[in-house]
Amino acid sequence: MMADEDVRDQPTEPEGGLTFGERITGHGAVEEDRHQYHATDLNLIGDENDEAWSIRCLDVRKRLGGVNVLDGLNVAFPEDTITVVLGPSGTGKSVLIKHIIGLMFPDAGDVVVKGQVVKQLTMPELLALRRKIGVLFQDGALFGSMNVFDNVAFPLRQHTDMTEADIAKRVRDRLTDVGLADAMGDLPSQLSGGMRKRAGFARALVMEPDIVIFDEPDSGLDPVRTALLCDLIQEMHQIHRGTYIVVTHNIASARQIGEYIALLWRGRIVEAGDAAHMFASENPFVRQFLSGSAEGPLTMD
Ligand SMILES: Nc1ncnc2c1ncn2[C@@H]1O[C@H](COP(=O)(O)OP(=O)(O)O)[C@@H](O)[C@H]1O
Ligand SMILES: [Mg+2]
Repeated sequence: MMADEDVRDQPTEPEGGLTFGERITGHGAVEEDRHQYHATDLNLIGDENDEAWSIRCLDVRKRLGGVNVLDGLNVAFPEDTITVVLGPSGTGKSVLIKHIIGLMFPDAGDVVVKGQVVKQLTMPELLALRRKIGVLFQDGALFGSMNVFDNVAFPLRQHTDMTEADIAKRVRDRLTDVGLADAMGDLPSQLSGGMRKRAGFARALVMEPDIVIFDEPDSGLDPVRTALLCDLIQEMHQIHRGTYIVVTHNIASARQIGEYIALLWRGRIVEAGDAAHMFASENPFVRQFLSGSAEGPLTMD
């Protein structure tokens, strides 16, 4: 996915005393600058009816607690690809996930998942859509009173009429995939943080979802365990395919598994594209964020 050269060739030097944030959210003359970074102009929202895009967010706005958390978000997630949504804390990543799974609805704009406009769905349609989406929440979100097996079996018992024997086989297969075959009888409290995440991952996969979403899978893990979890995500994607979305502020994770990367900041996409494109970006914000540098337009405010 290439950016429009004309757009990228424009000068990117900061203008007299303005921070990058002021430049992309400012008014008057600097307003033009904003568009330089906006995904709409880079045509990264996908074409309607193009099945290469599994999820599309079209000018999504969501105001929460007096703040425009999603502020004209335009982004699309490619089919059969691991996309990393990268962005600093508090920038709207979890809110974006909630919009994709229909736990929140936009004030304006549309979220289109597998061709369906989420806010237009009836409750039964929405529940059916959610069954096609596996989500791994930050801490695994396991039921504390159920052992690992029952946690992973839960969605199957809830949403399918599979026999217990078929359920047992499916659960055992997924737990074997994530290296937890020996921990099936353990309670979540008996597991390490990394094991809880893997159990959550097995549960996210058990319904054979088209879309799998990971909210900060690397939070609370040391760099080695983070790298191992990223390996596992990649392996599972190789086997099961589908649209994987990994939300993180961890650049190392993005580098390791991101095939497509969308950089979110203050409720908008700064830039999105193939990993190679993003790591070669000339956008000063993208360069700064992907290099983890203190130097650049991104400031603490
Ligand atoms: N339900 C809510 N009510 C009010 N504010 C919210 C709510 N959910 C999120 N926010 C605010 O929206 C912003 C983005 O939150 P979030 O998406 O959780 O950030 P992150 O990128 O770290 O996942 C934060 O400022 C957060 O406080
Ligand atoms: Mg979050």
